[in-house]
Amino acid sequence: MKKIIITIDGYSSCGKSTLAKQLARELDYTYIDSGAMYRAITLYFIQNRIDWNNHDEVREALDNIELEFEYNPITQASEMHLNGENVELMIREMLVAEKVSEVAAVKEVREFAVAQQQKMGEQKGIVMDGRDIGTTVFPDAELKIFMTADTAIRVERRFKELYARNKNISIHEVKENLELRDYIDTNREISPLRKAEDAIILDNSQLTPDDQLRLVMQWVEDALMVQ
Ligand code: DC
Repeated sequence: MKKIIITIDGYSSCGKSTLAKQLARELDYTYIDSGAMYRAITLYFIQNRIDWNNHDEVREALDNIELEFEYNPITQASEMHLNGENVELMIREMLVAEKVSEVAAVKEVREFAVAQQQKMGEQKGIVMDGRDIGTTVFPDAELKIFMTADTAIRVERRFKELYARNKNISIHEVKENLELRDYIDTNREISPLRKAEDAIILDNSQLTPDDQLRLVMQWVEDALMVQ
């Protein structure tokens, strides 16, 4: 069967990765979490004290970064590896979340990540989520989804996720971080988060994961019929 590219963009913690994983499983496609790449680069910059406002330093640092997704059969998910080390858990920590939007706004960082993402899509059969996937990475993708959900719902989802790992986290802290990231991601100069003109809006505030999958699979079928 013909394979397509599915892009899912939207604000932080809308459930993009849940939907992307559902679709990848259903269609036997590869799921690519583009945010994990920006998070891993941020982790490297923090660990190596790279000043991301200094373009020369950034360029040199990027030459030393190798990113790879590796499938973990135990978690049944592909996990982010930075220079051969599994950093999947570390990149989800608040330390990284607090800085990632700043790092993701740097021109060289975006060029580095986008080039790799485009390469991953060469054979199609992928579901990629992020902020600029339907607008910049794959402007010709066959199915583009733009996800939204009420802020209160997004904060609660994110809080639950983080609290499971760190009981010291407060809901206030999570809300502030989420709103700040959305602000920076939407207002940055290069490839800001915005809906591609031909993207379909999916507000999943009131949808169960099953309802969501059923609805989107219909869109997938429609997109495949056009091919
Ligand atoms: O999806 P996420 O929350 O893991 O993404 C982390 C950050 O990376 C997010 O604040 C914005 C940035 N990002 C981006 O700028 N472009 C993408 N395609 C994906 C993520």
